[in-house]
This record gives sequence, C-alpha cells and structure tokens, in this order.
Amino acid sequence: MHKLSTKKTATLIIICLGLAGFISINGCVESKKVADKTGAQIWSENCQRCHNTPAPKTFNDEEWKTVGMHMQSRALLTTNERDKVVEFLQSFNHL
Ligand code: HEC
Repeated sequence: MHKLSTKKTATLIIICLGLAGFISINGCVESKKVADKTGAQIWSENCQRCHNTPAPKTFNDEEWKTVGMHMQSRALLTTNERDKVVEFLQSFNHL
C-alpha cells in the first residue's frame, strides 16, 4: 500500500499555505491599484465591454445616478468605483 510520508505531507501543506499567502497578498496589491483608478479609467475599461459606451451628455445627473446603480451590478463595480464613474459622467453636464 502506498502512503504519503508525514514529511511529504508537511511539505505539501507548507507549499499550499505559501501559495495561498502569495495569492492573497497579490489580491491586496491589485485592489489597491483598482482603488486608485479615476472615474474616467474605470469607465473606459468597463463600460464598453458589453455595449458602446454612451456619450457622457446623453443623460442628466439624475439619470446617470440611476444608470450607475443599474450598471454597477452588471459591471461588478464597488460602490466607490460606481460613484467615481457617475461623477465623471455627470461632470460633462457641468462644463
Ligand atoms: C456586463 C455587461 C455590462 C457592463 C460591464 C456595462 N453595461 Fe451598461 N448595459 C448592459 C446591458 C445588457 C444593457 C441593456 C439592458 C439593461 O438596461 O439592463 C445596458 C444598458 C446601459 C445603458 C442604457 C440605460 C439603462 O440603464 O438601461 C447605459 C447608459 C449604460 N448601460 C451605461 C453603462 C456604463 C456607464 C457602464 C460602466 C460603468 C456600463 N453600462 C457597463 C450591460 C453592461
């Protein structure tokens, strides 16, 4: 019968923990980068994945808020990211 030695099992566990740690540290770095993005960046990187990006002047401020809430769930944005995109789009109505 073949059995993993205790030493081999321990080594495997250590490798797994190390990998998990590495991935979670990387995850933090990634979300920090995303948190630093401007509304314009988030908009240009997300909103045309599914459709042509609507021109910012298409909607008034209230409408952009509604669109933001609607598209936040589609684009899987955080509330902070959504607010930045909405502010970016609304800003064109105040030029
Ligand atoms: C995962 C796909 C997807 C992403 C990402 C996405 N949209 Fe949409 N969007 C849709 C679909 C599907 C519709 C039409 C059906 C609906 O309204 O849900 C739509 C409709 C719209 C409309 C029409 C008005 C409305 O609310 O129906 C606007 C404006 C819009 N999207 C803006 C955006 C903006 C701005 C972003 C980026 C924050 C975005 N979308 C990201 C899929 C997406």
